[in-house]
Order: sequence, then structure tokens, then C-alpha cells
Amino acid sequence: MPGSTTNQKLLEWVDRWSAVLQPNDIYWCDGTQEEYDRFAQSMVEQGTLIPLDDAKRPNSFLARSDPGDVARVEDRTFICTEDPDDAGANNNWREPQEMRSEMMQLFQGSMRGRTMFVVPFSMGPLGSPIAHIGVQLTDSPYVAASMRIMTRMGQGALDALGNDDWVPCVHSLGAPLEDGQEDVPWPCDAENKFIVHFPDSREIWSYGSGYGGNALLGKKCFALRIASTMARDEGWLAEHMLIVGVTPPGGETKYVAAAFPSACGKTNMAMMIPSLPGWKVETIGDDIAWMKFGSDGQLYAINPEAGFFGVAPGTGEDTNPNALATLSGNCVFTNVAETDGGDVWWEGLTDEAPARLIDWKGQTWTPESETPAAHPNARFTVPADQCPSIADAWEDPAGVPISAILFGGRRATTVPLVSEALTWEHGVFLGSVMSSEKTAAAAGTIGQVRRDPFAMLPFCGYNFGDYFQHWLNIGAQPGAQLPKLFYVNWFRKDADGRFIWPGFGENARVLKWVLERINGDVGAVETPIGMVPNPEDMDTTGLDIDTGDLQDLLSFDENEWRDELELIDEHYDSIGDRLPTEMRTQLGLLASRLGR
Ligand code: GTP
Ligand code: SPV
Ligand code: MN
Repeated sequence: MPGSTTNQKLLEWVDRWSAVLQPNDIYWCDGTQEEYDRFAQSMVEQGTLIPLDDAKRPNSFLARSDPGDVARVEDRTFICTEDPDDAGANNNWREPQEMRSEMMQLFQGSMRGRTMFVVPFSMGPLGSPIAHIGVQLTDSPYVAASMRIMTRMGQGALDALGNDDWVPCVHSLGAPLEDGQEDVPWPCDAENKFIVHFPDSREIWSYGSGYGGNALLGKKCFALRIASTMARDEGWLAEHMLIVGVTPPGGETKYVAAAFPSACGKTNMAMMIPSLPGWKVETIGDDIAWMKFGSDGQLYAINPEAGFFGVAPGTGEDTNPNALATLSGNCVFTNVAETDGGDVWWEGLTDEAPARLIDWKGQTWTPESETPAAHPNARFTVPADQCPSIADAWEDPAGVPISAILFGGRRATTVPLVSEALTWEHGVFLGSVMSSEKTAAAAGTIGQVRRDPFAMLPFCGYNFGDYFQHWLNIGAQPGAQLPKLFYVNWFRKDADGRFIWPGFGENARVLKWVLERINGDVGAVETPIGMVPNPEDMDTTGLDIDTGDLQDLLSFDENEWRDELELIDEHYDSIGDRLPTEMRTQLGLLASRLGR
């Protein structure tokens, strides 16, 4: 039953792949609620989804993944370009033809015994001039259902596509079923994952994983890795950024985007309830921003996604009440814990853990257990329009004008709460040297500090040297009305390892300073690393913080930064010879401001 399309090229592409993948049957997704309900029902029967108590959380489900398939796998993610330099040292490179033949072997018959879902989707509001269409083939009903939440999926996307080109995305779990073989709740090929991108032909091939960014190919693979190369070629930006509207009491709404690495606070900031009376923060997006210049020279941003795929642990009534309200129904939870009453729980949801749970691995759990009940990268998938703070403008096809961009990461030391770049070039420098402690969002050692330029280390589809140059080019665009650039750090710790800054809704105080800087209404002190607020420039009304702590948060330590110079130098060496000379110039300027 082919979908309603006259796109001959698409029909042929589906035929060609089905001959390789050899599914039992082919199903074209229409994107209706009725179809979603059918997918869910069949996954409940299969044991992939556990329905939650309808009275507590209507139309919601829990999935437990294979324990070997719980996060993005950066070492199994590849960029395939003819010239390895086009991928850059920031990516794992493979020769395209070699990679294709290796993967074709894996794809051969990999959907046997399963249904192949054809999933047409739009990244961005249907018909928006900033949006782009993709079509994903997948043998995972979990992925097909998740794509309906995370994108504009189904017949509408096919209609918007018409006879044009799309970004082809091929995904297989790599778990064919032989005759009579019994299926498992979470099929995958845990030891043999490949997340592969061909930027030149704008193709995505993914094998072996059913989880998050590895499998929902519209998200990181398309909207960041492939889109970043499209943006480079076409003069726009595809970034790992949240977007919010911020409105002061009685004032005008300004839009702010912020790039923080995975699990470093984008969803939380996107849904912030400001602690400052009368201030309003509204959500446009929580993970990805596509930005293009408008005719007035401003950068206009859309959220290409339609849902949130958010980190569950740490989401609580005291930290992110808007997220909890969003999760009132129509959710898919993955790798959280299950309560006796048929609901979900995770660390940070309540202060006290329930007396008994079933943990993410399906084992009985009690507060005495030594392992967490929810996996640290447990996630929720939920439609964005359920968020109480969603902005009216969130689906505006024209996007929203961006006045400020924040860069930030998790740094226990060195980086102050907030600083403002001296110039666009200095801001690009700050973005290029961003660093953060590693989190559970990707497999690997947690806590290690690594450079994560623009929060794009795992997501930039091309050489970082060229990417920094692209940011410099954006700044040099004639007539550009550029946003101001800032660097923030909510995660500074004291000697006892305690976060000094209360964070979450209190981050509104930083947003207030940012907006006042845009309007030129507030002071700052020029330091070698940029403009930093004086303690009296920060609105601390009603905040219980002692003066020493505030001073520490806004302090900058010359010795730490002199050490940092050497680390940045090594980081720049690792990027290779496409690093723009402007970046070394900025490093030299910083060194001289530091008296070096
Ligand atoms: P991805 O979805 O992986 O891109 O993550 P994200 O950047 O959206 O991060 P998210 O908002 O989900 O936050 C991840 C973790 O950081 C959660 O455990 C939060 O509780 C914690 N966090 C977020 N904001 C703050 C903050 O202001 N202060 C502190 N201390 N922790 C925060
Ligand atoms: C991230 O890791 O930045 C995420 C989760 O948003 S995933 O979609 O798995 O990449
Ligand atoms: Mn993310």
C-alpha cells in the first residue's frame, strides 16, 4: 500500500531498498492518531511498550531498551566524504565507497521477518521556507511512533514534498527474524552499530541501534550533521541550541538561543519559570535551531522539531515544573523506572524514592539498591505543544529574530557565571573553545572535561576549521544585524563539590543582565576574557546567596586562564590546518590581555 504520492523517484527508492532489506511487508505512515494507536497497541502486544495507568498518565507508555543500547555512540558515528579533510579531525571519517559496501552487507536481508515503515517527515513547520523534508525507512515501530511525536510526520510531509528531493534516511535495527524465531522487546545489534552520514549526497544510513539520536534520524543526523553542511553551503546556521522568548515586565519580547552540550541544561532553560517577578520565558525549541537571515539582516530561528526528547533524571517539580506538566499524557518514556501503581519514576522526580520500583532493566529496586532506578540517559518523548510555556510563535514559519546567543557548558572551575563577548570574532572564539564535563548522553567516561565547540563536537557534519570560518562569514555578512554573544556556566562548584549557583529559574537573573546589555542599560567590567557583570549589576533581589559566593561566581582567575591558554593552543592544533587564522589571532589577543 504505497503512500499517496506521485513522486516517482521516491517510489523507486523505496522499491530499491526493499529489495536489499527484504522486509516481510512495507507500510507507508500517514501520521494519524489512529495509526499511532495501532503502532502502540502492537508494541504492547510485542512487549516493547508497557502501557501506564491511563488515569494517571493517559495514552502513555514505558519502553525498556536493551542494556547495550542506551545512548548515542560517538565512536560508531561516521562522516563519509571523498576528502578526509572535509570531515575533519572532529569526525570519524570513512571512505564513502568502502563504507557503502560494508554497510550493504549488513543491510542485506536485515529486515527479514519485519515490517518496513516508510516515514515521511518535515523538519520545521509544514511548508515553511526554512523547513526541509526527509523520508526514513525503518523496521522499528518504536522509531516510527517516536518520529510522529518528534517531527511533522505522515501524509502532510509527503504532500509538502511533492515531486521534490528529500533527505533519504535508511535505518535498520539489524535484527532480522528467521521463520519461527521469537522476537525480543528491544531488537538491536548492540555490538555492531553504525551511524553513517554522506554529506555530499545528503544521505543517512543507520544500523544496529533503536535509541534516540542513533535511530530518530530527523534529529541529530539530519537536523544537525547533514543540515550543518547544507547551512555551510547556503549561508545559514544549523545549531545545537534551544530557543526562548524572554519578556521583561511591561517590556518587549526578545528571543535568545543557547548552545549547551548534551545534558547540560537546554531543555531546562527552554522551559524555565523565571524567579524574577513579572518576567516571562516562553519556549520555541529545546534542542535544535535553524537560523537564516531575514531581509532586515536579523537572524531568524525555527525549531525544526515537533516534540521533546528530554533527559528524565533530574526533572522535578522544583527544577522544571513545566516539563512535568508537559508530561501529563501522550508520552513515551524510555529507561525510566516503573512504580507499583503503573506510573513512572526517576531520580530527582521526588525527594524520596518510592519504597519499591521496577528499575530500567526490569529488576525489583528499593532505595537500598546500589544502582540508579532510571538510567542516567533515560528520556521522555512528548509533543511540544503540550508544554505550558510553549510560545504562540513556536510554529511561525518565518521564525523568530534572535537578539542574543549564549554558549555554555559544565565547568566546575575557571568559567564565570556569565560574560559577554567583546566582538563577534571574540564570540566565535569563545564558541570555538567551549569545554564541558562529559555527561551520560553519550557512551564514555562521565565527568571528563573535553572541548565541545559550539556544543557541536558530536554533531558538526564537517571540518571544525571550516565551521569556525562559516561563523566568521556569518558575522561578516553585509547588512547583518547580529545577535550579541555570551558565555555562561551554571555549574561552578565550591571546594565541597556543591553547585554555587542555584540555577534553573534563577538563571532568569542572568537573562535579565543579557537583555539589559543588549539595551545598554547595565554595567559590566572589562576583563581579559570579556565583559563580566559587577556583583551589583546582577539582580539578586530575593535571592539567598552570600556575597562571597556571588563574587566567586563572577570571578575570573588569571592563573587558571593562563593554564587555559596552553590547553586552547593544543585544542587548536588538533583541529588542523583549516583553523582560520582569526582564531589564533583571538588566542594571541587573549594572551596579551592576560599579560602573556
Ligand atoms: P540533551 O537533551 O541531551 O541535549 O540535554 P539538555 O541540554 O537539554 O539538558 P537538560 O535540560 O535535560 O539537563 C540535563 C541535566 O542538567 C538535568 O539533570 C538537569 O537537572 C541539569 N540542569 C539543567 N539546568 C541546570 C542548572 O541551571 N543548574 C544545575 N545545577 N543543573 C541543571
Ligand atoms: C543529545 O544527546 O544531545 C540529545 C539526545 O538530544 S539524542 O537525541 O540521543 O542525541
Ligand atoms: Mn541535545
